[in-house]
Amino acid sequence: MTIHPPLPTIRPLLDPAPEYAKWQSEEPIRRVTIWGDNSPWLITGHEDARTVLADPRFSADAGHPDFPHTRPGAPPQAPGLFHQMDPPDHTRLRRMLIPDFTFRRIEQMEGAIQRICDDLLDAMTAGGATEADLVASYALPLPTLAICDLLGVPYEDHGFFREKSNALTSVAGDPAEAMNARMALYGYLRALIERRAQDPADDLISRLAVERVATGEVTLDEATGMVSLLLLAGHETTANMVPLAVIALLHNPAQLDALRADASLWPGAVEELLRHLTVIHSGIRRIATQDVELSGVRIRAGEGVVVASQSANRDPSRYARPDDLDVHRDAAGHLAFGHGPHQCLGQSLARAELRLGLATLFRRLPTLHLTAPPDSLALSTSTVHGVRSLPVAWR
Ligand code: HEM
Repeated sequence: MTIHPPLPTIRPLLDPAPEYAKWQSEEPIRRVTIWGDNSPWLITGHEDARTVLADPRFSADAGHPDFPHTRPGAPPQAPGLFHQMDPPDHTRLRRMLIPDFTFRRIEQMEGAIQRICDDLLDAMTAGGATEADLVASYALPLPTLAICDLLGVPYEDHGFFREKSNALTSVAGDPAEAMNARMALYGYLRALIERRAQDPADDLISRLAVERVATGEVTLDEATGMVSLLLLAGHETTANMVPLAVIALLHNPAQLDALRADASLWPGAVEELLRHLTVIHSGIRRIATQDVELSGVRIRAGEGVVVASQSANRDPSRYARPDDLDVHRDAAGHLAFGHGPHQCLGQSLARAELRLGLATLFRRLPTLHLTAPPDSLALSTSTVHGVRSLPVAWR
């Protein structure tokens, strides 16, 4: 039996694990071991990564017995979790949510997002405070408040769903604990959807309850799964991006100076930060449903595939000097939000949160600096890369 090298689980704070660059230049499609004897193909080049993510012969169906899950004993597929489904169910469920996440719809939320940023910074600096944990005071509440507002989930319950989210996304977590967390979260969200069906408000859960569940277009279980996906995906990712982006910009003062001199660079800088940091670091996972020939490599039906987006986003054949953070760069085509039919539904929201969140932070606290060495920071244990806390000060 051939032993394949393990998929790296540890990475430096701001860069992909070093193995990726070596594999990308020597063997850009190769097998790795993720756990037990599960050895999917690892795709490290940008072009191949895009091809796989757009090709319907690679399935996102996590219910497949050989699916390359991030850990053994991952909770089974459940109704409504459309990120782990193929058409027609994926298309049917995703389509219902698109109107709430269009660029135009999110543009209308910008005033509310800006207020969230300002309120959080007011609270952080209240009483002349000059230091804080940026994760707890800003990076986590910002997207959590925004997604709670959009969905209609009471923010007061964030301690509860944060704990369940951690148990569900922890790579090393106990499968039984993950299952219990899912049941508790689903019970909570199901009750919320039922309440909104009786007493609707102007939020996504009410629209889903009244326009889709009550009409029989989706079941209550499907709606519950859909809302849980939005709640978890909607806060965990941006919450991890903001602190890493702050560290990266403080580490590259010329780039931060350029942004301070010209605020119109922020939208492009957000794309570059997304490319450079690629927080979804366990790769985007698929399984081949047919034999596929990819850049001279034969991937057989039933074999798993891990698209290493963090590596693809540093591919020198796509981005010149890929390891440099360059806010003037055109980072278009990056895979931080994935690609193809499953490309991130919340990308317009994430972009608005990152642009307003980072620009407001650096404008209001121009002397912001870290108070702990970056390499001393504890890293998250979930499938999303990030730091658990970020001590900062300003004066
Ligand atoms: C899908 C990244 C923020 C909701 C994805 C995928 C990636 C991603 C890579 C594709 C997964 C795949 O192909 O299997 C990110 C990053 C974010 C972010 C880096 C922030 C910086 C958000 C936000 C929401 C969200 C704010 C809001 C609800 C979703 C949903 C999907 C998804 C629902 C599944 C889409 C589908 O399968 O059709 N995200 N995301 N994400 N994301 Fe995001």
